[in-house]
Amino acid sequence: MTSTQRSAPLPVSENHYLAGNFGPVAQEVTAYDLPVTGSIPDYLDGRFLRIGPNPIDPNPETYQWFLGEGMVHGLRIGDSRAQWYRNRWVRSARVARALGEEWRGGPWRGGFDFAANTNIIGHAGRTLALTETGARPYELDDELDTVGPSDFCGSLRGGYTAHPKRDPVSGELHAVSYNPLRANLARYSVTGVDGRIRREVDIPLRGSVMIHDFALTENYVLIYDLPVVLDLGNKLLNRFFSTHSTPSPLAAAAMSLSHRVQPKNLQLPYRWDPSYGARIGVLPRERTAAKVRWFEIEPCFVYHTLNAYEEGQRIVIDAVRHPSTFVNGHNEPTIGVPALHRWTADLATGRITEAPLDDRRQEFPRVDERLIGRRHRFGYSVARLNVPDTRSADTLLRNDVTTGTTEVVSFDGDGEPGEFIHVPSGPGTPEDDGVVMGFVYRHETGRSDLVILDAGTLDHVATVHLPARVPNGFHGNWVPTA
Ligand SMILES: [Fe+2]
Repeated sequence: MTSTQRSAPLPVSENHYLAGNFGPVAQEVTAYDLPVTGSIPDYLDGRFLRIGPNPIDPNPETYQWFLGEGMVHGLRIGDSRAQWYRNRWVRSARVARALGEEWRGGPWRGGFDFAANTNIIGHAGRTLALTETGARPYELDDELDTVGPSDFCGSLRGGYTAHPKRDPVSGELHAVSYNPLRANLARYSVTGVDGRIRREVDIPLRGSVMIHDFALTENYVLIYDLPVVLDLGNKLLNRFFSTHSTPSPLAAAAMSLSHRVQPKNLQLPYRWDPSYGARIGVLPRERTAAKVRWFEIEPCFVYHTLNAYEEGQRIVIDAVRHPSTFVNGHNEPTIGVPALHRWTADLATGRITEAPLDDRRQEFPRVDERLIGRRHRFGYSVARLNVPDTRSADTLLRNDVTTGTTEVVSFDGDGEPGEFIHVPSGPGTPEDDGVVMGFVYRHETGRSDLVILDAGTLDHVATVHLPARVPNGFHGNWVPTA
């Protein structure tokens, strides 16, 4: 059974981020008891949630993928059945207005109002949609309807990140966030299992930069200070806002009023500037900002860490390295090949080395989350190998960083995979146990499937056939039933 709830007009455009499977869907759908090919493992009991941009009335002249209003797509799985599928816009004030609904408001200190579009997690019994750049998280209910903005029970000020990392032992969420109103300060925070931030450390950088992700080990936080710098279109303004934090009353007023003023033509105020240099900071988790040690690296940008871990006095960081980003504006993010890379920082010698791990064009790397901050062997990422002239992926990779080998699942001619995540069959099982799952857009039907593969063999386990298309988006997670 399928029902359609809300809808918005579809834009028609030459903008490649509004075309093909980047284009938004117009309808919110609820469907029950979805058809399945294969058998869903009985240990899967929870929700697969994934979020991405689904712009509600974009300007084709200026629209950029990172700035579309967020829509979450979710599947409830249990009893070896695909019990429901839902997709819902995150109801920011602007989205609510566009849908003709009343915006319910809520806490505003968590950041600027924006329909979070980058990641969706479960933490402390809540479902949270997340973005960066000072935007506030949004809380959703179990069926993906918007509860309202979240400030983590009053403990969050001025934005979070889309890439928190859960320590697998403590269950706490570690994060590095930034906000252009904070000038050159990056903020490390730890959110307890009660959903409240218990610790914050502001870390001075060389300037005001974009920070999409960070890395975590058992004892250290790793901060990327990379050359994507604030650009307000004027050198004096850039210098001023990179060295002066906005006074708290002004920042508070800007956050509290942000639901009223939401420009249709939002632009990212950042650009590539290799003269800024590039470095990775190593902060002991429980120490102050004065204890950060910086390691200079070749200029690059990191959107996503695969994982990091300690090896004696050395810290190993595996991530997808972009040779550059935002060189020619924001609609062609990377020049060169984003590929899996390893940095090894030696705390004893103060030196850092770097080396490629896999030179295939890839992104959205994910690891078995039970190994966050611990030594891993496998990473899953999506790649574009067979169709070099499109922006969509066509392949799933499983990189074995121990042997240096890579296994490949090609969807060439059949579909476009989004990020795949790993779900173990239970606690304490081996790293390649369980399944990996992700949405795959099918050209033939114009709809998407949830594809579930064996994490060890990459053999097909099950496919859930959705009644709708899931546009290319960003990140997702498995949220087990409590
Ligand atoms: Fe991301």
